[in-house]
Amino acid sequence: MSEPTPEHGTRVVVSPGRTVLGVDAVEKTGTYAARHGEKVLIVASQQIFDIHGERIVDALEGAGVEVATFTDVRPDPTVENVEAAHQVWDAEGCDVIVTLGGGSSIDVGKSVGILATNEGSIRSFGVDKAGYEGVPNPAPPIIAVNTTAGTGSETTRTAVLSDESTSTKFIIVSENIVPDVAIEDPELTRSLPKSHTAFTGIDAFTHAIEAFTSVKSYSVTDDYARDAMERIVDSLALAWSNGDNMKARTEMMIAQFKAGKAFGNSSVALVHGMARPLGAQLHIPHGLANGLILPYVVEFNSMAAPEKYAEVARLLGAADEFDGTRQAAAKAGDAVEQLCEDISLVDYLDEFGEVPSREEYLDVVPEMTQDAFDSGSPDNNPRTPTRDELEELFVTVYDDALAPDSRRRS
Ligand SMILES: [Fe+2]
Repeated sequence: MSEPTPEHGTRVVVSPGRTVLGVDAVEKTGTYAARHGEKVLIVASQQIFDIHGERIVDALEGAGVEVATFTDVRPDPTVENVEAAHQVWDAEGCDVIVTLGGGSSIDVGKSVGILATNEGSIRSFGVDKAGYEGVPNPAPPIIAVNTTAGTGSETTRTAVLSDESTSTKFIIVSENIVPDVAIEDPELTRSLPKSHTAFTGIDAFTHAIEAFTSVKSYSVTDDYARDAMERIVDSLALAWSNGDNMKARTEMMIAQFKAGKAFGNSSVALVHGMARPLGAQLHIPHGLANGLILPYVVEFNSMAAPEKYAEVARLLGAADEFDGTRQAAAKAGDAVEQLCEDISLVDYLDEFGEVPSREEYLDVVPEMTQDAFDSGSPDNNPRTPTRDELEELFVTVYDDALAPDSRRRS
């Protein structure tokens, strides 16, 4: 089993200060908010607030906490979105942040926390400008009420924002933005549509497998990742086929939490690096982009980390002890594709309009390749791709999974 390597030095494992897990966990939001302050800013999208807002507000007010709201969180939140939320924080004199939603709400909440206790624009805290640990002062208390089973952002030290002025995304990384409390109530995922159960579930699986095979992986993150993958293999198709199956929903909630701890303390890798530009080009959700890319990257990587991928193939049921390590590893790509097939992932592409023609797509492959390299994620990949190899991977995704008459779509 691998251990922290000399080149990575001492490792800091982060996790939310408290994690409240299980049906009705959401009722504890008030108790924890009251422990940390007197006036909460709820950060959510209008859509999520309409579904769950009343319950959260009741829990908070029932505990004697005042409530202000910012309900304009956008998917792929922007600098402007964060600044608007921070204005409400300031105007209302809040002292605790409660995020309600998945990754976007949590990222806005973390970013409001940065602006609340630090000088400078939110852009100035990106790792490309301020480096890792670029947030000098701890954010105010953050309570993340999670409503999806995928993001894992409630466990991590990162926030991802879009800078509309440059049409790029940037990442902030600091121990000072790890949420103090994570509320993981599977009941809140009951209302997730099937499509989002699929997208967020595959996102969580991608977090786990990338953390497991990352060059930054080690024994602590491997344990989280392995456990997350096992739970997802057992429960994702069940939660997808029957959203009221609360045992499966609970397993997925635990799995995405473990997967968040895995990648939050190891890293994601090439799939996430490619998914960002692909998702932006096709206007598709992050988890769907991951699922379109994942089998090809697994196939590309498997010879570079055969023991890890052999283990993945075995836990997916595609190989057994009679398969040798390399033989088992070679089966991992197909096994991962089957996991996506089980929940009809690729079929959801139809919901997002027509994909570009092959010619249009080939035109943007060099740009997507550059974006993928710029994300830094390929550096964590067990196999370092050349530019040609990465371009070829993007083309394979198109020919095998995106084209209307491709193998995975027909
Ligand atoms: Fe992700």
